Amino acid sequence: MMAGAPKALAVLVSGSGTNLQALLDRFGREGRPDPSAAVRLVLSDRTGVRALERAERAGVETAVVRPSDFPQPAAFGGALLELLRARAIEFAVLAGYLRLVPADVVNAFRGRIVNIHPGPLPAFSGPGLYGRRVHEAVLAAGVRVTGPTVHFVDERYDTGPIIAQWPVPVFADDTVETLSARVLKVEHRLLPAVVSALARGEISLDDRGRVRIPPDSRARGLGFSLTDEELALKGVTQAFHAE
Ligand code: GRF
Repeated sequence: MMAGAPKALAVLVSGSGTNLQALLDRFGREGRPDPSAAVRLVLSDRTGVRALERAERAGVETAVVRPSDFPQPAAFGGALLELLRARAIEFAVLAGYLRLVPADVVNAFRGRIVNIHPGPLPAFSGPGLYGRRVHEAVLAAGVRVTGPTVHFVDERYDTGPIIAQWPVPVFADDTVETLSARVLKVEHRLLPAVVSALARGEISLDDRGRVRIPPDSRARGLGFSLTDEELALKGVTQAFHAE
């Protein structure tokens, strides 16, 4: 069974917070129903977003730290780090957070901070390619498969080591709306599953920046694994049935 207390999570948000909701539904404030982690802090870079309401409804502490309030960029990072440390946060999750995470936060949380991107990295990524623009780019490229990526966060946008991807079909008559809705449903399953495995220690980042998932770990079944054909097929099947 679970060893120790639930790991303390901070979730960083900027918008509607449906991924935050999926994390709250899985872990809540106290590690229920999944005792591996507990959402202890929701941090936004802006006021008035739906994600903050979701946190408040779940009884989770919220904070707004706006980069524009800090004359020097480094001071923004310092403020974030201070807050994360003051709340004894062990893992951080970017769930629709639109800022670049300051380098000192990345350093302090290396291997303990993940992001979800709504497209298949390393394609469809980079500055300005976020949210619906990712789906627009996918449609414009004419690819038949897309899907979210969960990756460790490094100092740049969308370039950190990839943990899990989940294939989602693109249909010929898709619009940004139909496609993003299909991808989002999968995001809501993939992100909490990755966070749980991370909190249980089944996913880690080694000193050389490689993602480690033990061969016997259930985390191998998360989404799409290029090293395991059988699980890859399972991922595809589940994605097609996620409707
Ligand atoms: C998601 O599509 C996520 O992949 C991306 O931003 C969106 C956030 O949506 N990073 P929500 O705020 O979780 O509803």
